[in-house]
Amino acid sequence: MENIILTGFMGTGKTTVGRILAGELECPYVDIDEMIAAGEGRSIQAIFSEEGEGVFRQLESRALAEVLSRKGQVVSTGGGAMLQNREALEAGGVLICLTASPREIVRRLQDGGGRPLLAGDLEKRVEGILAERRALYAGIPRRIDTEGKAPRQVAAEILDLLTEEGVI
Ligand code: S3P
Repeated sequence: MENIILTGFMGTGKTTVGRILAGELECPYVDIDEMIAAGEGRSIQAIFSEEGEGVFRQLESRALAEVLSRKGQVVSTGGGAMLQNREALEAGGVLICLTASPREIVRRLQDGGGRPLLAGDLEKRVEGILAERRALYAGIPRRIDTEGKAPRQVAAEILDLLTEEGVI
């Protein structure tokens, strides 16, 4: 099987849905943020505050390159992975973008969830970063709207899509 790669903005459910998908497909699951945090022995938040976003992006690109050299996995990326790794993600497997409205994203991330880029006014940060990245996410042809849906339902829609496309 090709890699199934989930991307999309923070709070669109990439990690939760990715885990469910990997369980259904009985294949390995890799969460790029978890891999980076484990490799560094500290949280994503600590990496951002101690080293800055630039170092985090380098670690992210390196982790992605390593993971995408293998096949047959479900991979969840961080929401900003597309910024510097668009080609690698497009070439690395079946790339799927999860989406949700700004309002739903804010509701899901109410406590910020420890995301360094969302410190401060959550609504403004979400709207601002979404606006910057809108074209990037919109350029991904496979898109699944997660608005108002349970993670299991989103996973089921992805399984249908993968079946339709003959990936599984
Ligand atoms: C980021 C998203 C986060 C994490 C980091 C940066 C981003 O991952 O990689 O905080 O730039 O959108 P999630 O999308 O899993 O929250």
